[in-house]
Amino acid sequence: MKKLFAVLGDPIGHSMSPVMHNDLFSFYNIDAHYLPFQVKPENLGDAVKGLKAIGAGGFNVTIPHKSAIIPFLDEVDELALQIGAVNTVVNKNGKFIGYNTDGLGFLKGLADDGLSITESKVLIIGAGGAARGIYFTIAKSGPKAVDIANRTVEKAAKLVEECPFQIPSKAISLSEAAETMGEYDLIIQTTMSGMSPNLDEQPVSMENIQDQALVCDIIYNPLETKLLREAKQKGARIQIGIEMFVYQGALAFEKWTGIFPDAKRMRENVLQQLGGTSNVNR
Ligand code: ATR
Repeated sequence: MKKLFAVLGDPIGHSMSPVMHNDLFSFYNIDAHYLPFQVKPENLGDAVKGLKAIGAGGFNVTIPHKSAIIPFLDEVDELALQIGAVNTVVNKNGKFIGYNTDGLGFLKGLADDGLSITESKVLIIGAGGAARGIYFTIAKSGPKAVDIANRTVEKAAKLVEECPFQIPSKAISLSEAAETMGEYDLIIQTTMSGMSPNLDEQPVSMENIQDQALVCDIIYNPLETKLLREAKQKGARIQIGIEMFVYQGALAFEKWTGIFPDAKRMRENVLQQLGGTSNVNR
């Protein structure tokens, strides 16, 4: 019998996950189907019960449910609990187990670029939910240091305080980050600044970046943000936002099926959905 997989969110109409996962199920000859469900916050518990009752194989959770889902699950993985957010749920013998593959997906994308986290001094721009997942996952991997730059510095300081892993880490302002940009090997932009329709926005200048640095932006609309364009002009390497999206999906697929899927195929598929071309500069 066909297994059901799903993504729960609100809104959910523009999710690229259904096309990405359905293509993988058919490519690997797995008798399963992945559907998007728009679930209002007040119905989240009932939706989870329903998925359990019909024996769904697993599901993804997206905005605004990533934290709210936790009390409705049978078990939650330690890193996901530390981050305080779940994006992937697996049905293990009738129990729903929650994981967070966002940060780990991001690290997987970095490994593809040949970057070693343990030898890197990292700057994260932004201190919201997305920053938190990436920060804690990187901190767990033992980098040289991770600094957090945010428009509201107090929010960055709070995040540094809450990090459960002991690493050199400090909160700085965006202007301080612009000045000291040359110190960092890896820079990760996690804010909404620069996302369509605000294409001319850029949270911090890349003027002082070193040319061996790798700059990642988690925004994928547009494919290449103003910040990435400036970093590229300065000679730095860049990584576009679909990498993290693809790898969080790849890790979810692996948890559900035991198969780590072809990331290149997934990337092409997502780019096609976004109407881009596959030769976007990475
Ligand atoms: P998410 O969960 O997607 O990370 P969030 O929790 O709302 O979203 O956090 C948004 C982040 O983007 C915050 O770090 C926010 O900065 P503040 O803490 O100062 O609000 C940052 N952000 C949003 N718009 C920004 C802009 N135009 N310039 C700089 N930073 C911005």
